[in-house]
Amino acid sequence: MSSEASTEGAGRKVLGIESSCDETAAAVLQDGRACLANVIASQHELHEKFGGVVPEIASRAHIERILPVVEEALEESGVGLDEVDAVAVGHRPGLIGSLLVGVSAAKALAWSLERPLVGVDHIHAHLRAGAVDREPIPFPALGLVVSGGHTSLYAMRSGTDIELLGRTVDDAVGEAYDKVANILGAGFPGGPVLDRRAAAGNPRAVDFPRTLLGRDSLDFSFSGLKTAVLYHVRGKPVGRGRHARFERDASRLTEQQVADVAASFQAAVMDVLTTKMERAIRWMRERGLPPRALVIGGGVSANSALRARAERIGEDHGLDVRIPPIRLCLDNAAMIAALGHDRLVEGATDDLTLEAVATTELR
Ligand code: KG4
Ligand code: ZN
Repeated sequence: MSSEASTEGAGRKVLGIESSCDETAAAVLQDGRACLANVIASQHELHEKFGGVVPEIASRAHIERILPVVEEALEESGVGLDEVDAVAVGHRPGLIGSLLVGVSAAKALAWSLERPLVGVDHIHAHLRAGAVDREPIPFPALGLVVSGGHTSLYAMRSGTDIELLGRTVDDAVGEAYDKVANILGAGFPGGPVLDRRAAAGNPRAVDFPRTLLGRDSLDFSFSGLKTAVLYHVRGKPVGRGRHARFERDASRLTEQQVADVAASFQAAVMDVLTTKMERAIRWMRERGLPPRALVIGGGVSANSALRARAERIGEDHGLDVRIPPIRLCLDNAAMIAALGHDRLVEGATDDLTLEAVATTELR
């Protein structure tokens, strides 16, 4: 393929495409910063009755939506297809059938337009969202990605030079929110629902465990917390195998008790995240990389308690806290275009052999 399109000079316009899970999204970004359009077609209503994302339904919905979403983004941005300088796509990690739709569309566009194709890691892109429509992030920075599939801490020397410091050994934070909401019969996706319910609850009502995995660990574990909530709400398991059940279910809880469990669960999650961020800041300082910014991305960064905690950490340590506005916290293509822009500037473009990959880069 040709890569003769402008890779230098101002005003570069990158078309971003995102389809890793259950949002079909396209965005146009100028200069890696100015978001000209950010279109997101959510599939929540298709998956809600199943209590989670169904891969086959997701990929079919992506196929139906991808071209209209791209067209809408171009129209909203006022940028013609012939003015697009590069096509960026989230090609990892995610549901393989979902990723394939975005990757195929991006390849077809890049090939037909004779523009560079740039594959980016969706998780790293979440850490770039905090610099969309804002001044660049000061580095080094501590990065935290908290989503339905990931919970990881990163030492960032730049937006593209990222080192993994720790990650969850079992459930991701968003997954824990979704499962706890399910246990409480509170709805899907669980994060926003529990965030709202927690506001009316007492965070000290139930003393749930804070799993820290040893004194210096930067890894996370949330499955013990989830199980503690399960036993608190449903009591002990009775019987074995197919006949196993619990002593009771959430229907016996009052509205106030649901709010108290949500608030207590959220407090335990926040205590763990805060402790790990504090440890990571110390870790970076000890290695001559004193962080100047705290960058948080992923769906759970929409959480009100996490946003408040992060502001506090920022004040305590003199960090520029970058948590994107809600529309850029959830899966979106503006962050894909932003990181794609940075990789384009570095000359890190891809060719048509770019593959969809289910896992993140373990850097
Ligand atoms: O980044 P994202 O949109 O998709 C993934 O890549 O996973 O994150 C979705 C996750 C879901 O688990 C959802 O419950 C959670 O983010 N989430 C929240 C909130 N809003 C979304 N979790 C806690 N509090 C919220 N306000
Ligand atoms: Zn995501």
